Amino acid sequence: MAIISDDSGLEKRVKKNPVIKPETIEYDNTFENTIRPKDFESYIGQTSLKETLKIILEAAKRRNKPLDHMLFYGPPGLGKTTIAGVIASQMGVEIKITSAPALERPRDIIGILMSLKGGEILFIDEIHRLNKVAEEILYPAMEDFTLDMTTGKTQTAKTLRIPLPKFTLIGATTKAGELSSPLRDRFGMIHRLEFYTVEELAKVVERTAKILEIDITPDGARAIGMRSRGTPRIANRLVKRVSDFAIVKYDGKIDERVANESLDILKIDEFGLDNTDRALLNLIIEKYDGGPVGVETIAAALSEDVRTIEDVCEPYLLQAGLLQRTPRGRKVSPEGYRHLGKKMPSMQTRLFGEED
Ligand code: ADE
Repeated sequence: MAIISDDSGLEKRVKKNPVIKPETIEYDNTFENTIRPKDFESYIGQTSLKETLKIILEAAKRRNKPLDHMLFYGPPGLGKTTIAGVIASQMGVEIKITSAPALERPRDIIGILMSLKGGEILFIDEIHRLNKVAEEILYPAMEDFTLDMTTGKTQTAKTLRIPLPKFTLIGATTKAGELSSPLRDRFGMIHRLEFYTVEELAKVVERTAKILEIDITPDGARAIGMRSRGTPRIANRLVKRVSDFAIVKYDGKIDERVANESLDILKIDEFGLDNTDRALLNLIIEKYDGGPVGVETIAAALSEDVRTIEDVCEPYLLQAGLLQRTPRGRKVSPEGYRHLGKKMPSMQTRLFGEED
């Protein structure tokens, strides 16, 4: 039994079978799983996505047809896996969850496809990391619900067409641009998940606190929401950390003061930036005059890998307007300088059109 981790940090137990047999994937009863919403009503935020999905699901039910394949993309932690789970439970079907790096050999993807039953959902996380062979197995599976298998040597080779049940593939990725166009074109719906507002995050915090029996005031929830970088997974992590402080250092209840003081100690600032984010901005300012500088250089200097910088740190810094992406590399914006309490060099100020 191997443990694999996906970008959501959830550990999945994958029972590996030596022959072409389905991989059974079970979610651990982890923290993230106990607080995961199971229906549209308890899923906060992503309003336009929810409205679209409600229509699509209702139409599929009335037609008695499986759902179209769907692709969700956006930064980690915004609820791609969660929404796939909500879709499955609203349709009353099973969901099999895997991630592209776990589908290394052809038999991995074949096994999982053959294990599906009609109407079921196959969720592939990090789908941009699927290898070419797995992708080519997926094309006829997605389009015609068939598995095309070649047997024998080149001259006597035969193609075997094995019918598959009509399933729905839900792909998730942080990098839609890295999907090949033949794969992207086979999804009937492509949707980008958006960062959450502070109000939405405050609701996520209140909901999680209720499930975990954590005492919190609306102002306390809002204070945590403000420092959660638009990301419910971070909000959920912070509510637990702040609750630890509330129990040990205060009277157990999280109010605005307890939340802010605890987050200050955790070195999460008012924008939700942590030490790595601040180190990234500081590096560009101190060593590269505010940029532009290439992401590889930034990653090497911070001893982080490029993927972590690009997928985890940058999306929020860009969205918050603290960092800018230019063809020549990354640049700290005037807002980024201001946030760190630093003065922009005058040349940069003029280029950005700011007063000296
Ligand atoms: N936990 C993580 N994401 C959530 C969401 N969108 N709504 C409610 N709880 C969540």
